[in-house]
Amino acid sequence: MARPKITVVGAGNVGGTTAQRLAEKNLYDVVLVDINEGMAQGKALDLSQAGPVCGYDTRVVGTKDYAMTAGSSIAVITSGIPRKPGMSRDELLATNAKIVKSVVTELVSRSPNIILILVTNPLDAMVHMALRVSGLPKSKIIGMAGVLDSARMRTFIAEELNVPSTEVEAMVLGGHGDTMVPLPRYTTVKGRPVSELMSKEKLDAIVKRTRDGGAEIVGLLKTGSAFYAPSASAVSMVEAIHKDEKRVMPCAVLCEGEYGLKNVIVGVPVKIGCGGAEQIMEYDLTSDERAALDTSANAVRELCSTVDRLMG
Ligand code: LAC
Repeated sequence: MARPKITVVGAGNVGGTTAQRLAEKNLYDVVLVDINEGMAQGKALDLSQAGPVCGYDTRVVGTKDYAMTAGSSIAVITSGIPRKPGMSRDELLATNAKIVKSVVTELVSRSPNIILILVTNPLDAMVHMALRVSGLPKSKIIGMAGVLDSARMRTFIAEELNVPSTEVEAMVLGGHGDTMVPLPRYTTVKGRPVSELMSKEKLDAIVKRTRDGGAEIVGLLKTGSAFYAPSASAVSMVEAIHKDEKRVMPCAVLCEGEYGLKNVIVGVPVKIGCGGAEQIMEYDLTSDERAALDTSANAVRELCSTVDRLMG
């Protein structure tokens, strides 16, 4: 049986690592697209040649020609310029909105049933852009942010408590920016709320470090942003779709009344399955949590209106 085709757009660090993780699953055909054809082709060739050593025979094609993407079931969009130290994700807006607009148009014209996973920053605004230009239903446009932000929080909590990070569950909602909303009440270790396991000061420090998690890595790397955890997060979403897992993952999707939020893209818990973002799950929030989510949604709204202004 033919394997589902997964396209990865952008052959930089996030895209290249995403392609690698997908190839290693041995479940998909992978198409890596980049405007710089040599880069996509080179990485695809290199990934194919790792197959016999690692035990996979995934077909990996590198190209700048979108014709090769025809019939993709899912695309992970990573293309765009990354942050430099001291930059916020929002400063990438104008450049990346143009890139994402053209990428989405190219993809959807050849794969009308595609599900898009956006990774390019500023994430929530790029999901907005994709919704505007694609004509796809909102269930098929999903931003990857909450899985990554939650993974960061899980890691910090595991380190602090000296437990395996896989046993920590965390939930980070809101926009993928300075106003993101880590939810300690929904953060547990083997079912126990984390607030029972550490002091408020320690937990507050972890919440802050989670919010600044991307910038911490940009500051260390100096030449770009994180890619191992972002690619792992995107691939976990691809798998949840492909295997119809119906897992609840925090993702950036269009809210139309859920959480009292109207017509705004923001990170919320979403059931992910073969239909994409199948259902937004409404958790009970305290008034403080709701207020933090509102603030975050307002920050996203501002960015999206800038996108609308720039793109006309
Ligand atoms: C980060 C980028 C991917 O948070 O937004 O590292």
